[in-house]
Amino acid sequence: MISAIVVVGIFAVIVGFSFHFRKGSDAVRDPLPERFRDEIEIGWTTATAFAFLFIFWFAASTQLHHIVPPRKAFEIHVLAKQWMWKSQHPNGVREINELHVPIGQPVQLIMTSEDVIHSLFLPALRLKQDVLPGRYTYLWFTADKPGVYHLMCAEYCGTGHSRMVGRLVLMTPEDYSRWSSSQPGAEDLAKEGELLFSSLGCSGCHAQTSSVHAPNLRGVYSHPVQLSDGRVVTADEAYLRDSILLPDKDVVAGYEPIMPSFRGIASEAQIIKLIAFIKSLSGEEQSE
Ligand code: CUA
Repeated sequence: MISAIVVVGIFAVIVGFSFHFRKGSDAVRDPLPERFRDEIEIGWTTATAFAFLFIFWFAASTQLHHIVPPRKAFEIHVLAKQWMWKSQHPNGVREINELHVPIGQPVQLIMTSEDVIHSLFLPALRLKQDVLPGRYTYLWFTADKPGVYHLMCAEYCGTGHSRMVGRLVLMTPEDYSRWSSSQPGAEDLAKEGELLFSSLGCSGCHAQTSSVHAPNLRGVYSHPVQLSDGRVVTADEAYLRDSILLPDKDVVAGYEPIMPSFRGIASEAQIIKLIAFIKSLSGEEQSE
């Protein structure tokens, strides 16, 4: 509406002046009065500049506000690969090219890719986010209407790109829990992570009983970590993932960079489970 008003205003002035100053008219063609050249010109320019800055701030802040998920979001991991969508629910239920989601509560998708850049597009929710190899990207939403909607890849990712489609199933919380408990072979993500934690050898150094001097992982998630180069970072998913794959990148203060990289050893799906396990470790000491 504001743009329309501006456009109409400018056109009215163009047409009006074209007529008024047409060739042969007896319009006054003297220089503008001083006042028009200074005060009014400067005042008008400044006022409109601030008006548009305000509009930009207003629009951007609502968008920014929507990027940060609420603290208590229901987390679903999404793993893209050529050419399918895989998802894993907190209780370990896995899906391919389907995404079952409860309505009425904030849901956060934690997404990464095993190969190339994909993009998760949920048109019914007006959401689209690139899914990148080597890092996590996020989407969050609170759906309010049950139903079955499209889910698709919106980034050309190879010959099978057009087949990378699926269904987004929005369900009432009761239907969702009925659905998820009826799925086969579901093992809690954090539990699977715990098994990996020992089978991949992490526990050799990070267990509390270990003689190796390695950072304690209890309660580390979402808390600030002091690094040896003086930076302080928050231990989010990306930090944990980097610590597993690029252990030299963020060395915790007071520790030697002796951890080997698990690049090529732990798959993206396994890293998701390891992170789920580390997130499940509370800060309190537990008797083991
Ligand atoms: Cu994945 Cu296009």
